[in-house]
Amino acid sequence: MAFLRIAQVGHPVLRAPTREVSRDELLSPAFQGFIDDLVDTMHEASGAGLAANQVYRSVRVCAIEVKDNPRYPYKPNIPLTILVNPRLSPIGDELFDNYEGCLSVPDLRGVVPRHAELRVQALDREGAPIDTVVRGITAGTFQHEVDHLHGKLFLDRVVDTTTLCTWKEFSRHHEAGFRERVKAIVARYGS
Ligand code: NI
Repeated sequence: MAFLRIAQVGHPVLRAPTREVSRDELLSPAFQGFIDDLVDTMHEASGAGLAANQVYRSVRVCAIEVKDNPRYPYKPNIPLTILVNPRLSPIGDELFDNYEGCLSVPDLRGVVPRHAELRVQALDREGAPIDTVVRGITAGTFQHEVDHLHGKLFLDRVVDTTTLCTWKEFSRHHEAGFRERVKAIVARYGS
């Protein structure tokens, strides 16, 4: 078990598009060990997801998992998912407002419009194809992580900058209202 350092906003590695991973590279023991470390680091930091370039490795891989997450107590659970070379295609044009934070952006949150329904195509960590649909808050988490792999941070997508807040002010002034909106989104999309 190894914990990796997490790059912070301002480091160029977060802004460079990542490169695709070949099947041979993916299946190598060294790369499988890296994926284990990525997952361990995500767990250690209580992240809902972690992209490889957030731990200074510019490859198109991210981990996502929500299991009663203390950082995001209102998020529906997502089983551990590794996406390799993911591609997201929005289904329909419905958007919802997601209040996001990021392990690479310390103590700041903001509202980001996200697609409510997405097709996800990727490989899993064994190289088998993933082709699935995600919705609602879960779709927001997938978009946040795949954005990282394209060098984008949630900050770039905040439309109303007056929503930016520290975590403390989020819990004081915005969390209750956002939890109500999350309930409506989960009721509508099932996740
Ligand atoms: Ni992030």
